[in-house]
Amino acid sequence: MPYKDLHSEPFDETTIFKLEIFEDYAQAWIPTFVMQPYISEIHIFDFFSGTGYDKAGVEGSPIRLLKKIQEHKGNLFQQNVQVVLYLNEYEPNKKDQVKFQLLKASCDKFLNSDKSLKTKVSIRYFNEDFENLFPKLLPDIKKYPALVYLDQNGIKFLSEKYFLQLEKIKQTDFLYFVSSSYFWRFGEGEEFQLHLDIDMKKAKAQGYKKIHRTITEHIRHKLPINSKLKLFPFSLRKGVNIHGIIFGASHPKAVDIFLGIGWKRNGENGDANFDIDDEAQINQRSLFDPPRLSKVDSFKKEVENRILNKEITTNKELLDFTYSEGHISQHAKDCLIALKKAGKVSFDHKSPFVNYDNVYKKKRIISYRVE
Ligand SMILES: C[S@@+](CC[C@H](N)C(=O)[O-])C[C@H]1O[C@@H](n2cnc3c(N)ncnc32)[C@H](O)[C@@H]1O
Repeated sequence: MPYKDLHSEPFDETTIFKLEIFEDYAQAWIPTFVMQPYISEIHIFDFFSGTGYDKAGVEGSPIRLLKKIQEHKGNLFQQNVQVVLYLNEYEPNKKDQVKFQLLKASCDKFLNSDKSLKTKVSIRYFNEDFENLFPKLLPDIKKYPALVYLDQNGIKFLSEKYFLQLEKIKQTDFLYFVSSSYFWRFGEGEEFQLHLDIDMKKAKAQGYKKIHRTITEHIRHKLPINSKLKLFPFSLRKGVNIHGIIFGASHPKAVDIFLGIGWKRNGENGDANFDIDDEAQINQRSLFDPPRLSKVDSFKKEVENRILNKEITTNKELLDFTYSEGHISQHAKDCLIALKKAGKVSFDHKSPFVNYDNVYKKKRIISYRVE
């Protein structure tokens, strides 16, 4: 399948949006590990690095990563932590690997311009086909706290085998880019089914706009039953195409961070750069349409039902449910406060304690009582 070369012209708005999400995640991920005692190295992998900058000088993922590492330089020194950055770029079927040379030149230049940063960061360059490189680097991904970017063109490397390998690693968070609408068009073909065996009839029943969410959901079902790996989609519309990021991590802190980024970027749905659920139409419906709730309101309604039915009885159960539904703790908190105000639920504190710090860090577990 022919793919457009992302670096043949300046990045478009959607590509920049995607890179900003990658960047936001690195911004939050780096201090999470750097500030922990006993961690002396963190490893970051960008398997499809591109050239460093686009044609107009806009930074690509490797330079954005370097800038984020640079922002945390003070903490790297204070905590005595080294960063190892793995950058790979490979143009299949090309003798001259021009993009790889550009990548190396731009990142070396960046690092050479900051001598003290250079003592804290080492870059390992690779010019290999992802398919060969991934198994070679897996031991390193497994060994250290790792952040992995898989910013492929298209869908070629969206395969169960990669998810299943990443699934086995506890301390790795990954952001996987997928051109999901290719599945809509070609997903029934043998080539696609070999990579990812998806029931396209079922997938299409969810509608074109939701194809990225649907693919993420299908991959979730391919994970082992007791898997701790959580996957979350963020859909990106670019013209008529639907692309997206699949975020994966096992730790609730990572999930909390990613969901926070998504909801900050889109306060209506938290998982797309467009109105994926047609929420704009909610206020415009005619008298004859059945009433419909927004994504946030229907989540709050669901929380209310589960609390009143006593299916959810503690802040931990509520937080886990909130994450599993792809929501942020604020939505759950607002709901609990409203229930308390209405006299339907009580708890012993002013706040319902439904956030990462209380539940997972301080382990302050409280119960909710139905009145
Ligand atoms: C979507 S772009 C990555 C963009 C990059 N993150 C940036 O910000 O500039 C995908 C890159 O993967 C490279 N690529 C294509 N096939 C590859 C393969 N089999 N292995 C590794 N890299 C590949 C392409 O040359 C292209 O630069």
